Amino acid sequence: MSAAAAVISLVLLLGSVAQLAQAQCPLKCRCMAVSNKPYVDCQARNFEKPPNTGDDTYLEMNLSRNRLKSLGSYSFEKFPQLLVLDLSYNFIVELHDGVFKGADRIEHLDLSNNSLVFVSPHFLESCPGIQFLSLARNEYIGKVMEKENEEKVQNFLVAPSLRTLVLSDCQITTFPPWIVSGLPGLSTLDISNNKIKVLPVISIVSVCRLITINLERNPFNCEGACANAVTKNYFIENKTKFDKNVTFCPRNVRQGCELNITREEQEVRSKCLLTKIPDPLPREQPRSLWVYIGGASIALVALIFFAMVFNGLMSTCKRETSPPPSPGSPHSRAVQMELKEILGRPDNVYKDDDDECDSDNEHLV
Ligand SMILES: *[C@@H]1O[C@H](CO)[C@@H](O)[C@H](O)[C@H]1NC(C)=O
Ligand SMILES: *[C@@H]1O[C@H](CO)[C@@H](O)[C@H](O)[C@H]1NC(C)=O
Ligand SMILES: *[C@@H]1O[C@H](CO)[C@@H](O)[C@H](O)[C@H]1NC(C)=O
Ligand SMILES: *[C@@H]1O[C@H](CO)[C@@H](O)[C@H](O)[C@H]1NC(C)=O
Ligand SMILES: *[C@@H]1O[C@H](CO)[C@@H](O)[C@H](O)[C@H]1NC(C)=O
Repeated sequence: MSAAAAVISLVLLLGSVAQLAQAQCPLKCRCMAVSNKPYVDCQARNFEKPPNTGDDTYLEMNLSRNRLKSLGSYSFEKFPQLLVLDLSYNFIVELHDGVFKGADRIEHLDLSNNSLVFVSPHFLESCPGIQFLSLARNEYIGKVMEKENEEKVQNFLVAPSLRTLVLSDCQITTFPPWIVSGLPGLSTLDISNNKIKVLPVISIVSVCRLITINLERNPFNCEGACANAVTKNYFIENKTKFDKNVTFCPRNVRQGCELNITREEQEVRSKCLLTKIPDPLPREQPRSLWVYIGGASIALVALIFFAMVFNGLMSTCKRETSPPPSPGSPHSRAVQMELKEILGRPDNVYKDDDDECDSDNEHLV
């Protein structure tokens, strides 16, 4: 037990703090700060699995144009702070529950241009702040929806916080209402460039906040369009935003139907507008800052600790050199108590030190 030991421990501690301060970039990726946000760029690096090492402070990760095929549970748990994740242009086939567990802050998720043939309705349940999801250009999604429609599946996706859903170029042929029924916060829906013939009947109950719907490049047959809830909900207040290119529809559809909205519908709609949509998660301080503050505090506490122990031991020995106290005197017991408090050690361990000190004193005498 010496000053040297204390100094060595301190140097080790400070070293590990310094190491933490140096961001560790996943192998093969480039890490940088984009407008002050830690960003990790892993695009087009032939990744077959998401990187599983690296600093845990990144807010954005770009894994676009890799070779990701299947994603297991907790695939991104090493990056718990991620807000933006770009997985576009990969070969992802299935999205199961739990894929994004551990990365539960994700708000923006791009899964466009993959090969999805299975999407669990609950795969986003671990991301309560998700706002943007693109499944664009997944050419089998249309088939998935047809199958689910036959099987009378309840929800295509459950994500109450989702604001924007992009389903363009997905070979969708029918768009039954249940596809959006788990998305009460949806404000923008893009189903452009599909093969939808019948205007979507979107329940005003499930998507009362829908503001923009992109229906471009679909072979609509506009029969009965005015009876559809989406038209009602939409045309009443936001006539102009609806029609992007439904040029072949009757004039009243393009310009808005004269609608009779029933009292019941009006009530349902007001209730829907009152349902609380989860807010995005509150932004926290980047964790790294706390790591540094924590590290610095540990170092400081350690410094004080060593200084006190050192001081305590020295004074014990000094005080006991002259005059030699009778063993177990009130004075030495008081010192014992003091040291015990500082060290928080059990009695027996402490006694060994005390004996050493005493024996040294005997030599001196
Ligand atoms: C990821 O990289 C691609 C280019 O490969 C780029 O188009 C895309 O915008 C990037 N994603 C994000 C979220 O920055
Ligand atoms: C993106 O997806 C579309 C539709 O599935 C496909 O036609 C296109 O080739 C894909 N692009 C790339 C670069 O993979
Ligand atoms: C119509 O647009 C306004 C302004 O963008 C918006 O506040 C309102 O919620 C929209 N109404 C509907 C039914 O989408
Ligand atoms: C509407 O669609 C037609 C046929 O697909 C196309 O020729 C036309 O340019 C589109 N108009 C707009 C405004 O997008
Ligand atoms: C609205 O209701 C009135 C009377 O109930 C009916 O005559 C009219 O055709 C309805 N309009 C539409 C567009 O359904």
